[in-house]
Formats: sequence, C-alpha cells, structure tokens
Amino acid sequence: MTDAELLDLARRAAANSYSPYSRFPVGAALECADGTVFTGCNVENAAYGDTICAERTAAVKAVSEGHRDFVRIAIWGDSKEYCYPCGSCRQFLQEFSKTMRVICAKGDGSFVAHPLSEMMPFTFDF
Ligand code: THU
Repeated sequence: MTDAELLDLARRAAANSYSPYSRFPVGAALECADGTVFTGCNVENAAYGDTICAERTAAVKAVSEGHRDFVRIAIWGDSKEYCYPCGSCRQFLQEFSKTMRVICAKGDGSFVAHPLSEMMPFTFDF
C-alpha cells in the first residue's frame, strides 16, 4: 500500500470523528507489520481533557486486537497546516515502534513523512 492509499483510509476514518467542541475532525490509519490496518478518529468529550485523539484510537484498537508491531501511521486533519501528532500521541506510539513512518497530511491531501524517532527523540522509557 502506498502512503497516499494509507492516507486515504485516514481521511475516510475522519468521517466518524466525534468533534462537536473543536469542530476539527481527524482520522488516522495505522499499518502493522503483517499489513493489517487499523483506523481511528478523534472522540471528544464535554470534559475536554478526556478527548482521545485519532492516532491513539487507532493504536488502542490495534493493541487490543493483538497487534503491536506498528510500521506506519497516516494522519489526516481538515487543516491548512500538516496535521502532526500531538506530544501525547508521539509518546503513545513510540511505546510500540520508535522507527515507524509517520505521514502527516493537510486537508487538501498534501503530506510530509518522518520517522517517529525524528519527531520524538529522547522518549520516556524505563
Ligand atoms: N487531535 C487528534 O486527533 N490528533 C492529534 O494529534 C492532535 C489533535 C484532535 C483532538 C481534538 O479532538 C481536536 O483534534 C482538536 O485538538
């Protein structure tokens, strides 16, 4: 699957976003080593801090289904800027792969990609 194809799955996942507070839908598509893809969207809450980002939705779906070998994640946000993962999502993802490819897109579908290790050096581990 190409980066653009994975990104298309992320964009489609954003259609299920529950984001009445920010009105900012985000979608993610997470690819595992065996090719399985888990999608996710952001799920907001009236207690704002309880919101779950699209990337973590996808990651929790993957791990809870027995997949920990993350290879790539595509993230789409309906924005003029590239939708980079927030700090919490970077920390969450690096638990499972420090080298995974992170594809970050704008609303128009243009994207950049970086290894997670470049975006999140000096992670917390013990
Ligand atoms: N959001 C994500 O889903 N992923 C990120 O990496 C950044 C932020 C969501 C959370 C919230 O629902 C909305 O975007 C605005 O912050």
